[in-house]
Amino acid sequence: MAAPLALADAADPSFAELLALRPHLSLHAMDGLVMEEVPLAHIAREVGTPAWVYSAGALRRRARALKGALSAAGLTATVHFAMKCNDNLSVLKVLAAEGLGADVVSEGELRIARAAGIPASAIVFSGVGKTEDEIRHALAEDIFQINAESAEEIEMISAIAAGMGRTARVALRVNPDVDAKTHAKITTGKSENKFGVAISDAADIYARMASLPGIAPVGVATHIGSQITAGMAAYRAAYARLAELVRDLRVQGLPVERVDCGGGLGIPYRDEPAPTPEALAGAIRATLGDLGLPVMLEPGRWIAGPAGVLLASVVLQKRGAAHRFVVVDAAMNDLLRPAMYEAWHGIVPLSAARAASPLSPAEVVGPICETGDTFARGRLLPELVTGDTVAFLDAGAYGAVMSSTYNARPLAAEVLVDGARFAVVRERQSYEELLHGQRLPEWLTT
Ligand code: LLP
Repeated sequence: MAAPLALADAADPSFAELLALRPHLSLHAMDGLVMEEVPLAHIAREVGTPAWVYSAGALRRRARALKGALSAAGLTATVHFAMKCNDNLSVLKVLAAEGLGADVVSEGELRIARAAGIPASAIVFSGVGKTEDEIRHALAEDIFQINAESAEEIEMISAIAAGMGRTARVALRVNPDVDAKTHAKITTGKSENKFGVAISDAADIYARMASLPGIAPVGVATHIGSQITAGMAAYRAAYARLAELVRDLRVQGLPVERVDCGGGLGIPYRDEPAPTPEALAGAIRATLGDLGLPVMLEPGRWIAGPAGVLLASVVLQKRGAAHRFVVVDAAMNDLLRPAMYEAWHGIVPLSAARAASPLSPAEVVGPICETGDTFARGRLLPELVTGDTVAFLDAGAYGAVMSSTYNARPLAAEVLVDGARFAVVRERQSYEELLHGQRLPEWLTT
């Protein structure tokens, strides 16, 4: 151990501590890092790197834990997976089999959800800028609920639905003006954020909804932010305001059938306090329970985040003037979160021998031509050589979905592990596909 240097990162959890909290991952002397029953080195060899790998078992376990916590709290609840965090068809299929619906934010997501076999009657459509075409598509599919985010959007939905001879089931998304104390880029429930309608305007807008053709008001919704780890205070404050609003609406004789509680439950990437589904269920029960209404949840990260890893190979180790650089074949175009939110992701070598070797600080970087393409700074890692492989942990949410082809790097493959089986569930993009769709105008071809 390079003890004096290690002090800078003394608070980082060890490999063993990281794995202890992720029961679908374990480190074996011979097989190295194993997901369920499949050695990840085997997948890296067969499929190549970079590659996203998801544990079906972890997805199921987490979906069940969340549903279990809600029903143990005596709540009638439906869970709509926020598929913006992972829209892989096989992942959705696993979650659909657990009875989860989908929270979608685009026609693309709606189509993928339907392709995964999620019934329209379990789909809710959120988002601050649904286009007319998207609303029309959602109405044609007769989805369960549209969450409207503005007075203007409600007029739009009414006109489109009435024109189609349909009735849109609409919930009003309310901005409760609470601070979820998360990263500024993913906080959504403060009055200065673009989401929802101000709580002070909500009752009037709801009454307007009830008066419009083509709209059936079905309830209220909120979502205060993502990666919430600062306890239940913000949730409680938001839900208490929602409960008060529902009571007002009832006094006015307006129909309220359900409350959509949003998503946002955080996960411990490093060693953050981990709010539990039980705590969330308790907060819902305490604030909204008296209303006697069914509730909906839109969790994404809590279900899928810990279930996935990103495998990468070491291209080379480079001794810089100030640092040891571990250059891997994954980059910010694959896993954007460290560059975008300064996010911390655990990095574990796939080889048990490497994991047990002396550690010293390293900068873990991708090959992209900007300094922001850095996954970790001063991270304690063993000496790594060309061809070694590592796993970036908690990459199952906001991983593959946020990737791009920046630097003309093809999109990585996605793999599903289920017990002792694994399958490629999304092929690595080919170089032909990378060029697909590009055309030269006639005047450049002569
Ligand atoms: N419902 C709505 C309306 C949302 O906007 C979101 C996430 C969710 C549910 C799901 O939130 P979750 O349970 O996953 O926290 N790219 C960022 C996260 C962006 C979240 C956007 N909205 C990241 O990588 O941290």
